[in-house]
Amino acid sequence: MHRHRRLRRTPALRRLVSETSLSVDDLITPIFVREGIDSPIEIPSLPGVFQHDVKSATEFCKRLIDLGIPGVIIFGIPESKDELGSAAWDPDGIAQVAISEIKSAVADDLVVMADLCLDEYTSSGHCGVFRSPSDVDNDATLELYAKVAIAQAQAGVDLVGPSGMMDGQVGVIRNALDHDGYTDVGIMAYSAKYASALYGPFRYAVDVTIADGGNRSTYQQDFRNSKESLSEILADVDQGADIVMVKPAMTYLDIVSLASRNVTVPVAAYHVSGEYAMIKAADANGSIDGDAVAIEQLTAIKRAGASMILTYFAPFISELLG
Ligand code: PBG
Repeated sequence: MHRHRRLRRTPALRRLVSETSLSVDDLITPIFVREGIDSPIEIPSLPGVFQHDVKSATEFCKRLIDLGIPGVIIFGIPESKDELGSAAWDPDGIAQVAISEIKSAVADDLVVMADLCLDEYTSSGHCGVFRSPSDVDNDATLELYAKVAIAQAQAGVDLVGPSGMMDGQVGVIRNALDHDGYTDVGIMAYSAKYASALYGPFRYAVDVTIADGGNRSTYQQDFRNSKESLSEILADVDQGADIVMVKPAMTYLDIVSLASRNVTVPVAAYHVSGEYAMIKAADANGSIDGDAVAIEQLTAIKRAGASMILTYFAPFISELLG
């Protein structure tokens, strides 16, 4: 009798027997840096999250260090886009400028990562070289990813985060980095990235509209499948990924678990914009306690096997964590 309740009786007992703990050390904060603005602009689709100018992004990073957060991931929003997304590898492109400013201010007190993709930079809004009517050219895109990786490495990034889901992207990027002597720059691969409706608020945040009302189903994964995740993850590890990522998080905890049981590299999970926005909206209308739900969800992501989480909640909940 009462076997299960005995160990739940006091907070100290519960702490003692808890299997999972969420720590500030597990959190990576996404940061949007927009070219051509001189003060931060709040993103309506992501309340409490801002498009930063380079200076305010740098200040924000210093605040994150004070909060104990170990990592950030930079997303650039260029002033103008073109067919190939050339601002993504321009040494004066917004992401490169932001990386180098931030890195010179924070040195090694913060791990600075950068999303490595083209969708914020292409006029098509696709993650690669778009060929009408409806697909991207995988191999032509890989050549451009290699250029972006080098530009981000030159700017001083610690880890690049290829998120475009082109086949072979990790291998091509690893080769390019090694060839140019950037052997210490790591790769956090968005390995199992699903074609999800939960990226809606993010696309608003980075000003991306996909050409012709299109979608990314030809390169992002189908949410009805799990086996291909393992295939994608193992391929990325084989090609040199230092960290593999599952994205989104909450609706894909089975995939986080699958990944963590099958690879020895660390597994990251991205609690994406739609996941953040849903909690914020329900909190704003009084239905739930947003911070409590955030901590519950992020802890569940760890319980599933992730060792780090990319989350817009990082600066808001860090002080609530032990
Ligand atoms: C691609 C990228 C996306 C996100 C991160 N990297 C958008 C997409 O694939 O459509 C989404 C992140 C989020 O929703 O929080 N550059």
